[in-house]
This record gives sequence, C-alpha cells and structure tokens, in this order.
Amino acid sequence: MKKMEKRTDYCGNITQDYLDQDVNLYGWVQRVRNLGNLVFIDLRDREGLVQVVVNHDSGKELMAIADSLGNEYVIQVKGKVVKRSSINPDMKTGEVEVEAKEIIILNESKNPPFEIKDDVEVAEQTRLKYRYLDLRRPSLQNAIILRSKILRATHEFFDQNGFIDIETPILGKSSPEGARDYLVPSRIYPGSFYALPQSPQLFKQLLMGAGFDKYYQLARCFRDEDLRGDRQPEFTQIDMETSFTDEQQVQDYTEGLLKKIMKDVMGIDLKTPIDRISWTDSMNNYGTDKPDIRFGMLIHDLSPIFRDSAFKVFSGAIADGGFVKGIAVKDGAQKYSRKQIEKKQDYIKRYHAKGLAWVKFEDGEFSGPISRFLTDENKAALISEFNLQGGELVVFIADKWKVCCDSLDHLRREFAKETNIIPKHVFDFIWVVDWPLFEYDEGFGRWIAAHHPFTMPDDEGIKLLDTEPHKAHARSYDIVMNGDELGGGSIRIHKRSIQEKMFKALGFTKKRAYEQFGYLLEALDMGFPPHAGLAIGLDRFAMLLAEKDNIRDVLAFPKNANASEPMMHAPAPVSEQQLTDLGIEVEDKYQEDIAKIEAKLKAQAEKDAAHNTSWD
Ligand code: AMO
Ligand code: AMP
Repeated sequence: MKKMEKRTDYCGNITQDYLDQDVNLYGWVQRVRNLGNLVFIDLRDREGLVQVVVNHDSGKELMAIADSLGNEYVIQVKGKVVKRSSINPDMKTGEVEVEAKEIIILNESKNPPFEIKDDVEVAEQTRLKYRYLDLRRPSLQNAIILRSKILRATHEFFDQNGFIDIETPILGKSSPEGARDYLVPSRIYPGSFYALPQSPQLFKQLLMGAGFDKYYQLARCFRDEDLRGDRQPEFTQIDMETSFTDEQQVQDYTEGLLKKIMKDVMGIDLKTPIDRISWTDSMNNYGTDKPDIRFGMLIHDLSPIFRDSAFKVFSGAIADGGFVKGIAVKDGAQKYSRKQIEKKQDYIKRYHAKGLAWVKFEDGEFSGPISRFLTDENKAALISEFNLQGGELVVFIADKWKVCCDSLDHLRREFAKETNIIPKHVFDFIWVVDWPLFEYDEGFGRWIAAHHPFTMPDDEGIKLLDTEPHKAHARSYDIVMNGDELGGGSIRIHKRSIQEKMFKALGFTKKRAYEQFGYLLEALDMGFPPHAGLAIGLDRFAMLLAEKDNIRDVLAFPKNANASEPMMHAPAPVSEQQLTDLGIEVEDKYQEDIAKIEAKLKAQAEKDAAHNTSWD
C-alpha cells in the first residue's frame, strides 16, 4: 500500500513564505504550456493556483511526464519554491513558482466536457450532470466554502448564547396547510405515508413545551412548490425557538446572529438595531412585503392629485375605490423610448394591470400620451410630489390597491436594474413587522394564515378572531435582505382556546382540527410556556452573500428548475418489486412516460458502457 506523503500546504497558499523551501503538493492540472525547453503547469486545488515549472535541467524523464499531462490530471509535485522571473500580480502565488523535482501522476482524466474556470458558457443541464466538475470552478468552491463559514458562525453563536441543538424527524406526518408535501410511502403500513417536513415548526414548539427553553437546528426542509431562482424543493433553515421571550428578544437574537455572520464571513460590521417598517408602509412605499431598500424610487399614492382628472382611467379607478399610484424614474425620459415603455405593459398584465400610463418631464414640460390630460395644478402637484428635477419618466398604474402594489413593485425593481441604481456589494437588512394575520389566497380561493396557523394575533386581533378575523394583525416579523425574504418568525399561540379560534377562522371544523392537530391542542393544555421563534433560509442567505443570482450555486448538489437532478437522475422510476412491497400501483396513463424515462436511462447507460472498455 502506497502511503500518501503529507502535503506541505495547499497550492493556492504557496507564497513568498515558502521561498527556497522544498514542498510537496497535490492538485489538478489546470493547464500545461510546453515551450520546448520549458513546461509550465498550472496546478489547482481548492485554495487556488500555483505555477509549476519543469526545464531541461530536471532531466528528460521529468520533461516527458510533464509533457504527457492533460487538463484535470491529478498529480503530486515535489519541488522547490523559487522566485518567478515574470511576476503575476493577479495571483496570490504570483511571485513564486515551484521548480519540479518529481511529478507523480495519481490519476489521468478524460478531457472534461467544459473547461474548469469561472468565465465559461455551459448549459445548466451539463453543469448539473457533471456537478463534481462544476464544483471545481473557483466561484463555486468559494460559494460552498462561504456557506460552510455561515454554518460555523451559526453554531458558534447559538452555542455562546445557551441554545441547544436538537434534531427533529425527517419522516413526519402530512399537514396540507402551506405548500404541497413530499410523501414517503410506508412499507409496513401500505397505503399510509410519511411526509417530509416543510419546516420543524410544530416539533420546535413542542420542544418549548418540553422545557428546552432555547432550541436551534440547521434543519432540512422540503416543499413541493413551483421553483424559482431563490427556491429549491429541499433547503436548509437556521431554525430557532425560545420560551418566555417577545418580539424584541427574538429580534435581538437574530440581529446578534446576523452580526456575527456578517463579521466572521464577510468582515462587515452590521449596524444594529436593524430598521423596522410596518407591513402596510412596506406595501405602500415599495409595493411588496420584501422591500429592497438599497435604492429609493418609492411608490407614491397620487390618488388625491387625480381624483377629478379628465383622464377617466384615473378618476374612474379612484371612483371605484381604487388608486392611482406611480414612480418616477430618474433619467428615464432619455433612456426609454415609447416602444420600450409600452412593452412593459405586457409583463405587468400577469398582475392584472390594465395598462401603464406614463409621462416624461424634460425642460419644464410634460410629454407623452396622457400629458394632455394634466392640468397646470396636476403638473405642479406631480413636480412637488416626486421632487422632479427634469429628465424623469413617471409611470402610473390606476387600479385596485393590490394590483398597483404588485405591478409597481415589479416596475420599480426592473427600472432600478435597467438604470443601474442598485449599489453593488451592499447588504441591507430590514425588519417587516405588524403583519396581517390572514391573507386571501387567489389560488385556494380562501383566507390562509399570512405566516402560519400557529402565529399569535395581537391583543386586538385575539378579540377580532370571533367577529372579523380577517382584520386581525399578527405578532409576526420577517427579516428582509436586499429585497429577498431572508427569514420569518412570530410569537406563537400557547393557549388552546386561541389556537382553536385560529383553526376555526381558517375554516377548519372542530373534528378536522383535532384530527390534524389534536396532539398540539392537547399539549397546549398541559403547562405550555409562552414562546416565540424564527427561521432564516440558509441557502438564500448564502446566495445573497455570495452575490449569486441562483440558490443552486450555493448548494453542492441542487435540483434543476424542473426539480430533477440530472447526474444521478432523481427522481426515477423504481422496480415493480419495490412498488409491490409498498402496495403501490402506478396508473396506466403514466406507463408511457415511465417507459420513455427508462429507455432514455438505459440508452445512456449502454452508451457509457460502450465508451469504457476496461471491464470487457
Ligand atoms: P417560512 O416558511 O417563512 O417560515 O420559511 C423561513 C425561511 O426559509 C426560506 N425558504 C426557502 N428557501 C429556499 N427554498 C424554499 N423553497 C424556501 N422556502 C422557504 C426563506 C424563508 O424566509 N417555521 C417557519 C418559521 C418560524 O415561524 O419560526 C417557517 O418555515 O428564507
Ligand atoms: P386608453 O384610454 O385605454 O387608450 O389608455 C391610455 C393610456 O393609459 C395607455 O397608455 C394605457 O396603457 C394606459 N392605461 C390604461 N388603463 C390603465 C390603468 N388602469 N392604469 C394605468 N394606465 C392605464
């Protein structure tokens, strides 16, 4: 058995400190340049690159080995660190190189399907199929290492603050409130299913009932919902729960955690306390409950200005109980053509906006299709409302409150991106507080809990539960970062009578509430302490800190946008025997799809086997 000699250091750490020393390195061949009498090898590991040089003095044998190397070969290099003749200031190791005395090829590599570097165009499917190669790229290595640093800081923080790390089950019970569950069929009880947890919410509450007082967990959560750039079917929460605390204390713990993470991982001093905005102000000023406060361009309510407007679209919407709201885009007058502005109407139709009205303000004059409807009074009011300086594009939505909010939120973010006003490398946090307890879900066609059904209403809200529940406010809070929902939490209901009213307001019958959540209702009756908590989406946090656009880039093995994983091919059909054991029969209408997937997987396997003949 060959022993692996201990490495001196990572390739990326071989700096002047090692000058004139003999080193033993391991790594991947990034690139070989053969200049005839000299061969340069860029050797890479997780810490970076170092240049290895082989020259004629090293002997023919070594030159031959160096010449035989291909990209991604795994090699061991023993040699001496010397000063480089041409310094590369862009590399941490750029002042030195390693004069090779020995090179041992530990493994060869086929030519990889894409070059292992950051600026390379590769289809997502290929990246995920060869994820181990994709992950060799520096930016992904850095993102995964950054994620690990967040985890380290998180464990340290909770440990320093007396929290107990408790794992909760992955095989649980389905609770159809919220997103769709991932189900796991039971073999022992055919026809019965476990559900993977959407979050450990009820377990962590029960742990408060059990007296653990301060709980935390890096909890895996599973939600079968439509995927977006910041959503994966499987993700991790930094989950916490505390007894005998209130909003302020939970927010203080959260700020302490964020402060430590920002300092340890990013070297940034986060100023606390973090600002707070009420849900209503957030909706009115930003059009969303996750406001991006890195830039202004706030939404203004212009209804008072246009109540009597001759433009019927405006005055009519207001008369119908709606609003006219708008934003002013600095320097937008020059930047946007009529066609470009009109094109934006298409997108906001998905929010049911009926149109997009606009004017430009240049050289003291308003222009654009609706400018003829503006009275002198309207003009003066707009100038004063937006503090117009000249050069602005002002866009208006006249509609119901929610339509105005949704479309202007979208437009605000889009205009900000297009006019480059979002500062880079800035991390802005804000608490959104004073939420409604319920929100109307168009999809379900009914009221659902805005946070979750275990959230305590405020004192007034408790009274409203019996009469007008939908007017109640919740004792919940979200932490928002750069316009993304980073985390959320609430004070929980710890009294059975209030929890029952909450279920009732959500449309549960008593029977169904006890069927579904009887254990909780019973527990609340047996000395349950007041408690509160919060969960932060670790993946989103890592994505925002790594300044990536997609959550996939901070997960080692993510699913693609269609919730599948192209390397191992998950999900995939299983054998008849497995299904029989579980008492499951797949409907005939799916047999064709299954056969197609199986054929595809088989063809791929045959192709791979034919390629690789060493077994034959
Ligand atoms: P919530 O459902 O708001 O709260 O989730 C908390 C945080 O988890 C992250 N998150 C996700 N991240 C990636 N992919 C997803 N599909 C996904 N869904 C949610 C978000 C979100 O803010 N039990 C409560 C918390 C509590 O009340 O303590 C809960 O799960 O960053
Ligand atoms: P119309 O009177 O329908 O021709 O509309 C004149 C302009 O107003 C067009 O630019 C429309 O896109 C815009 N518009 C129509 N409905 C609305 C609305 N509800 N809010 C804002 N602008 C609108």
